[in-house]
Amino acid sequence: MTVVRLHPAAAVTDAVKVYGIGATQVRALDHVTVEFPAERFTAIMGPSGSGKSTLMHCAAGLDTLSAGSAHIGGTELGTLNDRRLTELRRERIGFVFQSFNLVPTLTVRENITLPLDLAGRAPDAEWVDALVDVVGLGDRLHHRPAELSGGQQQRVAVARALAGRPQVVFADEPTGNLDSRSGAEVLGLLRQAVDTMGQAVVMVTHDPTAAGYADRALFLADGRLVDSMDAPTADLVLDRMKAFDTPAAATRATTLTTVPPTGNQTTSSPTTVPTAATGPRESDRR
Ligand SMILES: Nc1ncnc2c1ncn2[C@@H]1O[C@H](COP(=O)(O)OP(=O)(O)OP(=O)(O)O)[C@@H](O)[C@H]1O
Ligand SMILES: [Mg+2]
Repeated sequence: MTVVRLHPAAAVTDAVKVYGIGATQVRALDHVTVEFPAERFTAIMGPSGSGKSTLMHCAAGLDTLSAGSAHIGGTELGTLNDRRLTELRRERIGFVFQSFNLVPTLTVRENITLPLDLAGRAPDAEWVDALVDVVGLGDRLHHRPAELSGGQQQRVAVARALAGRPQVVFADEPTGNLDSRSGAEVLGLLRQAVDTMGQAVVMVTHDPTAAGYADRALFLADGRLVDSMDAPTADLVLDRMKAFDTPAAATRATTLTTVPPTGNQTTSSPTTVPTAATGPRESDRR
């Protein structure tokens, strides 16, 4: 079957973000170009301060670029006024944050449908029921967030992000406040959303295990895209992160990754368009 895709779910082109002025200026993004494809799970990795959250915020229209452009589907965010941008975020983007960000006075079900309610869209009851099933919270629908564990709250946040069938879900360290078991559940849900709902997911994470759920991992350093890896596994990502720690090791890692595609599935160039991932992303992980 031939699938024609006009646009990736989200993209930034030659993105520059500068915070502050004069001597205190910080260049948080330094000419980053990246596409986040539809129906794919992309992880963004890199040291603290490397620009991961900035990239996500600018790609999602939560912050504006100093130069370059950001697109959601075919829409360039820089062309929208504040009202249109707010509408676009409500209608076409789902968000999951490290700190869950649920409304404490609303029930689980009300939290899940909140973005739709705010947008004046009637929730698709069947779809919401299906999501509630998937996140395993059917018996908690009338509870308030304070009555749930952290992992359960984050599962509500994932359901909320998916409720409006957005073009892309952005998640900034969604497992940062969770123990490993709850984290695995949330990551499994995001993976399932990609595999069974065709959702595009972009996730910022420090955790190699979390990156192992993605189809592709991107590595940022000092505001630049410095590497990418298709079909990442926790071990491969950990090796790559270690390689960034020492310049000599980094050189060695770059040499090792220039093997043909039949090798370890990695690419050394961030601009390389990946071929279909086949290696370590086994179905047993889903
Ligand atoms: N609002 C802001 N004003 C000034 N500087 C900022 C602002 N937000 C981010 N920065 C700076 O931009 C750089 C990138 O920050 P960013 O939050 O994107 O990093 P990050 O990779 O998400 O880090 P972490 O892993 O710690 O969350 C850092 O040097 C940070 O101090
Ligand atoms: Mg961050």
